[in-house]
Amino acid sequence: MRTLVVGANGLVGSRLVSTLLTAGHHVAAIGRGDRRFKGEASYHSVDLADAAGLTKVVTTEKPELILNCAAMTDVDGCEREPENAWTANVDGVATLAKAAKATGAHFVHVSTDYVFDGVTGNYSPDSIPNPRGTYAVTKYVGEQAVRSLAGSWAIARTAVVFGWPAAGQKNFGSWLVDALGKGTPVKLFDDQWVNPSMALNVADMVAELGTRKLTGIWHTCGADVVDRVQFGKALCAKFGFDPSLITPSKMADVKLASPRPSRSGLDVKKTVDTLIAKPWSLDVALGRFVTEVKG
Ligand SMILES: NC(=O)c1ccc[n+]([C@@H]2O[C@H](COP(=O)([O-])OP(=O)(O)OC[C@H]3O[C@@H](n4cnc5c(N)ncnc54)[C@H](OP(=O)(O)O)[C@@H]3O)[C@@H](O)[C@H]2O)c1
Repeated sequence: MRTLVVGANGLVGSRLVSTLLTAGHHVAAIGRGDRRFKGEASYHSVDLADAAGLTKVVTTEKPELILNCAAMTDVDGCEREPENAWTANVDGVATLAKAAKATGAHFVHVSTDYVFDGVTGNYSPDSIPNPRGTYAVTKYVGEQAVRSLAGSWAIARTAVVFGWPAAGQKNFGSWLVDALGKGTPVKLFDDQWVNPSMALNVADMVAELGTRKLTGIWHTCGADVVDRVQFGKALCAKFGFDPSLITPSKMADVKLASPRPSRSGLDVKKTVDTLIAKPWSLDVALGRFVTEVKG
């Protein structure tokens, strides 16, 4: 299948390119700046602000499938630079969705658990979003652009993605391994519950949504919901780090530029029931993470 990955230099996008190549796809990729992922794929450096450039790549590469992992993912950065957040997380998505429809490509767009306010947790794909903060709002509006502009589409929401080596921004898992591996104490929130999601696992689920041309909203994240201290302690147990380096703290006590959901937690039942690639338990994901880090 001819497949275009947008955001190929990022954490999920770089894994997705490898996953698709292994599955026999003919891959074209869009990233920003120099190519920083591995694998045989034609590469186009195009900013999400460049609507003509994005459309031209779609027209020339003629993909049957477009997978969009590109986004402005720095949550506090989005709060400080709302216009850039809107350009990447809304305008760029709308351009790609329109190009997908015009060329008849199936469009899979990666989104976030942050579309929910985090008051109750346990959100199903049918739960009503209530985004708070610029990152969350722009990702939610990006979802609506996909729903209204793409012909055939799926939205794949994920959460706290980790992997090694870090690509794109440093991620929560890579930061913890760096710090705890050096014996540096860390403070972690014990009042923010999330589905930690290994990038490899997210890539497998997103690739399957695309290859099978499944439609609608999906939760493509880790299976377990834990707070950040529980994640840190489970990571210490797998890596042999000292758990006493972790001091619990409260997100509620810290002044962050952008609000974050407290009780996130995505229900993965539909994904488990439908996909061959299942959401991994935290135990399985951390086991694979050890293998990634130690080689
Ligand atoms: N990471 C998480 O914890 C998390 C949680 C929930 C949902 N998600 C969603 O998962 C998806 C993949 O995220 P990720 O973890 O792979 O993030 P990532 O590593 O930050 O990758 C995002 C990619 O988008 C690119 N990008 C950003 N702005 C751009 C622009 N204006 N023009 C062109 N490219 C641009 C970045 O380019 P550069 O490499 O040049 O910066 C980066 O390679 C995103 O939709 C994100 O919202 C992520």
